[in-house]
Amino acid sequence: MTDVLDPAVQPTTTATDETWWRQASVYQIYPRSFADADGDGIGDLRGVTAKVPYLTSLGVEAVWLSPFYPSALADGGYDVDDYRDVDPRLGTLDDFDAMVTALHDTGIRVIVDVVPNHTSDRHEWFREALASPKGSPARDRYVFRDGTGPSGQDAPADWISIFGGPAWTAVGDGQWYLHSFAKEQPDLNWANREVRDDFLTTLRFWSDRGVDGFRIDVAHGLAKDLPAGDLPTWAEVSALPKDGTHPLWDRDEVHEIYAEWRRVFEEYTPARTAVAEAWVPADRRARYASAEGLGQAFNFDLLEADFDAGSFRTIIEFNLGLAEQSGSSTTWVFSNHDVVRHATRYALPPRSGDAEHAPTTEKQGSAWLLAGGSQDDLDRDLGLRRARAATLLELALPGSAYLYQGEELGLHEVGDIPDSDRQDPAYFRNPGVDVGRDGCRVPIPWTREGSSFGFGPDGAHLPQPAWFADSSVEAEDTDPDSTLNLYRAALRLRRTLQSEEHLEWLETGRDDVLAFRRPNGWTSVTVFGDEPYRLPRGELLLASAPVADGVLTGVGTAWLRP
Ligand code: GLC
Repeated sequence: MTDVLDPAVQPTTTATDETWWRQASVYQIYPRSFADADGDGIGDLRGVTAKVPYLTSLGVEAVWLSPFYPSALADGGYDVDDYRDVDPRLGTLDDFDAMVTALHDTGIRVIVDVVPNHTSDRHEWFREALASPKGSPARDRYVFRDGTGPSGQDAPADWISIFGGPAWTAVGDGQWYLHSFAKEQPDLNWANREVRDDFLTTLRFWSDRGVDGFRIDVAHGLAKDLPAGDLPTWAEVSALPKDGTHPLWDRDEVHEIYAEWRRVFEEYTPARTAVAEAWVPADRRARYASAEGLGQAFNFDLLEADFDAGSFRTIIEFNLGLAEQSGSSTTWVFSNHDVVRHATRYALPPRSGDAEHAPTTEKQGSAWLLAGGSQDDLDRDLGLRRARAATLLELALPGSAYLYQGEELGLHEVGDIPDSDRQDPAYFRNPGVDVGRDGCRVPIPWTREGSSFGFGPDGAHLPQPAWFADSSVEAEDTDPDSTLNLYRAALRLRRTLQSEEHLEWLETGRDDVLAFRRPNGWTSVTVFGDEPYRLPRGELLLASAPVADGVLTGVGTAWLRP
């Protein structure tokens, strides 16, 4: 291994204040499950501040905080009561300011989540809408419709919400409101000027407090166009093309909203950044990432892919092409708070049957959860070995890498949460079909022992399994081969090695081996299969698996330079 500050490898580009986001490593904090300073079993902002030294030693360039706003937690905080405050269980605005200062002092940028598709049903606007008559300005902020049947007792349409169950809920006076997610998350009407203005106020509110960027939840859902008369059936809606004209998703005019937001971002120096969560066909992603819009969009293609060299290469080439089209940089994600952790997805038994119609690894992960989520069904070591290889590959790619808390510990999904402890609405709204996303939201282990493995002075809001002890920060901190120390080394090296946003593929002589070189010579080689592979000549900088006499011993990634 090498001295990472050796001047022989000079970065060919240096991120500036304006371009920091283009190739940043961004660490997602799910605040309620990160660190609990006050001992109520729920993580909080003072907990994050206390862990700034940990984040610094990890070497990430930015953190993204999932919602910490006042919320009944009908959807883990994505049901927001007030966009410009902190949930009292998580702290105060002063705590928020102190956290931002502590992060900024060590050079870590801060991204916060904005949830514009829906408020919570406790938001003052929704309360006002319920207290106001049909046709009132208060109702116009949401998507209300008359029910069908003589007294409006039947839903306006048979639409299904994303978490399962009906997407329309009655309010008792013959009217119903639309909720694309849980019934506690009424969809906003973005044709309403007041709604638009209020979000501009929210963007300025957090920007004024020093926030560097925003992650935009369900960015493709805001613009809607429902026909005036009878609504189409769900079967009809679902069959409509997703080409910018769909009544609910990814409508072209959503970008008018983001053009306004861009003007707000540009009021600040450096300009505030944004990344869109937009589940849209890949060829429509570039619109969200445009410089006149949000500037960057998540690319979930690797997250949905098998651990397979051919699939990875196709996805990487395609997304680098998209980034060129939009002028943005691409983003890479393997895990987040919505999916089964990648160490676990890669630990599932091989799928049988027709590859073309087989479920994605992400869907396969959900099926494993539904079947009981037993750790015994997993090849835990293989899953972790693949996950480490995938991460090292990710961190060598051009673009930003979004990492999810706990993946740096190689954490597996907690699959067997008792039903009585579950929190996710996807579980409650979809009985027998979906067990939800709680398994990746279990508070992370800091110590080997203690009532909540060091998460806080008392318990944790979701049960932690005994095997968390060996994956705790304490257990991994001093082990040179731990996943934590692999991430630390990789994130540090990456900052030194970062290069122009290009790569060149190298011939490897094997279908299951991918190798690419960045313009400054930084080379990454990934072996997807079990056979050992002789690495190309060069100086070995880091490897996710043992290298003996220049040979990578099966699944793994190695970084080299000439
Ligand atoms: C996004 C979030 C998810 C949430 C949903 C509704 O997909 O990532 O956690 O449930 O939006 O807000």
